[in-house]
Amino acid sequence: MSIISNDINKAIEVLLQDEVIGFPTETVYGLAGNIFSEKAIDKIYSIKKRPSFNPLIVHLHSVHKLSAIAKNIPDIATELAKKFWPGPLTLILEKQENISCKITANKNTVAVRIPNHPKALSLLQKIPFPLAAPSANPFKSVSPTSAQHVYHYFKNDISFILDGGNCESGIESTIIGFKNEKPLLYRHGAVSIESIEKIAGKVSIITNNETNPDAPGMLLKHYSPKTKLILTENIFETIENNRHQKIGLITFYKEIISSSVQHQIILSKNKNLEEAARNLFAALIELDEMNIDMIIAERFPEESLGRSINDRLTRAAF
Ligand code: TXA
Ligand code: MG
Repeated sequence: MSIISNDINKAIEVLLQDEVIGFPTETVYGLAGNIFSEKAIDKIYSIKKRPSFNPLIVHLHSVHKLSAIAKNIPDIATELAKKFWPGPLTLILEKQENISCKITANKNTVAVRIPNHPKALSLLQKIPFPLAAPSANPFKSVSPTSAQHVYHYFKNDISFILDGGNCESGIESTIIGFKNEKPLLYRHGAVSIESIEKIAGKVSIITNNETNPDAPGMLLKHYSPKTKLILTENIFETIENNRHQKIGLITFYKEIISSSVQHQIILSKNKNLEEAARNLFAALIELDEMNIDMIIAERFPEESLGRSINDRLTRAAF
């Protein structure tokens, strides 16, 4: 029997045994376990080969459960939650005492969100605990946007993947924390900074490096296919410079005719940034499976979700 299934009751059964499952959300698939099960949390870290300094996101089904997870919630956080939950926004808040330091990697803050996916919400409603879930990919690789991607990564390391179809956003949640009640961006994601700023005012961007203890997840190399990736502003020149290589090409909306390009993926023929974000990770995973020497990706306009796409491609190319 395939481990990919629509059966929510089976997902519950596996979770109640302190096991982890592949779990659909609107952003990317997660590797999910009971936040109160030490065994499940340990498994998440070991299956993903994730370093213990990198904390997990807690997934809830209702804002009424938030006070059990976090305290001293800034007013702006409440406003953002009202506007964007359920949805692809993660808030970093002061943690409640009973939240294990394994989930928070010993920090006194916890990351939390309500995913906007009918299967995820229905599952979360039926279980008596929230789910901790990082993206369901091995450390540093491209996040999965389908149940098949999760299987491709973990095969039989997990016993169950709840199938929720292809992810609607296709890029991870935007992460916002607070310093002196002022919003700080920890990760570009599926909610644009522009729409956050409409609610929260000016958002500062947290220092982007690997040694900042406040931002353990801001790895310079991340979202990386195995194949070398070049991010470019001048697609024709980069193709020409690499004309003796077998090239896989990712563009926003243009079709490029070139004999060096073995395979091209256009992320959105309609020039729509949301559609491009939805297709980005699947394109990287697909090209990575082909017999090519390199992936060349076009830099996106630095606005709205174009910034989130550029963030992922920059780290993929690092
Ligand atoms: O869209 C998403 O957010 C997906 C789906 C499954 O919900 N999850 C996801 O999780 O992307 P993950 O673990 O791949 O990325 C979570 C990021 C990590 O970079 C982690 O370092 C950061 O959130 N994070 C979690 N808790 C934090 C905290 N207390 N302080 C700072 N960063 C935190
Ligand atoms: Mg991840």
